[in-house]
Amino acid sequence: MILKVEGLSKSFGGLKAVNDARFAVAEASIHSIIGPNGAGKTTLFNLITGAIPPDSGTATFDNVDITRWTPDRLARAGLARTFQRTSIFKELPVDENVALAIRAREGISRAVWQSRGDAQMVAAEARDILARVGLDSRANAKAGDLAHGFQRALDIAIGLALKPRLILMDEPLAGMSRGDRETVASLITMLRDTLGLTVVVVEHDVGMVMRLSDRITVMQHGAVIADAPPDEIRDNAAVRSAYLHGSFAA
Ligand SMILES: Nc1ncnc2c1ncn2[C@@H]1O[C@H](COP(=O)(O)OP(=O)(O)O)[C@@H](O)[C@H]1O
Ligand SMILES: [Mg+2]
Repeated sequence: MILKVEGLSKSFGGLKAVNDARFAVAEASIHSIIGPNGAGKTTLFNLITGAIPPDSGTATFDNVDITRWTPDRLARAGLARTFQRTSIFKELPVDENVALAIRAREGISRAVWQSRGDAQMVAAEARDILARVGLDSRANAKAGDLAHGFQRALDIAIGLALKPRLILMDEPLAGMSRGDRETVASLITMLRDTLGLTVVVVEHDVGMVMRLSDRITVMQHGAVIADAPPDEIRDNAAVRSAYLHGSFAA
């Protein structure tokens, strides 16, 4: 298990936003976290990625206790995150966006890219990453001109520049057309199948989650109410009841 969450809890005032959450994520799998609005999914993500500290509980990444690590330290350890809002520079070309991320990575570990010949090295790596996410033919386009699905692909490319082993994605399909959703869904599958990455996804599109995921953790009122493969989740009475007034469209 590459990621283990054991008893993570976080309260805001009297509200238990995350309440004794526990689950484990297998390496090279797609693991989704779903649940009604306010269930605590984003807070859980924030706890795992070091954005906020938990009140109690632990998170382990590759058997190392990462509880309370900073986002920077987690990124260097191989745990990356993409955001619901893209983090791209829309005025810059696609390849420059990726090159910037590569330089940022090298800046963290050491400023190797400043020495001779390294501009080419960075450019070559950027091209390589763009090819992986299917953006090679758009390398020179202005990032802001890309369709939504391709902007998300660029977002993922920027994440890949950190050379992660695990990527957490917060609603990667939000606000997208059907076609764009398909683009991003295939990309997520590619991350697992071709690169062997682990992907943890918070996503509202339950139909897509059912199709994509190896395993699903369901949250309600801060707690994990189910944790199983998609087929079992579909038939789970507690899950069905949690979604009774929502959009359990699977
Ligand atoms: N910074 C915060 N301060 C106070 N309450 C918060 C904060 N962040 C989240 N919450 C509350 O915690 C609960 C869980 O929120 P959230 O994790 O965003 O749920 P989800 O992502 O599943 O919709 C909600 O009731 C929300 O209003
Ligand atoms: Mg949320």
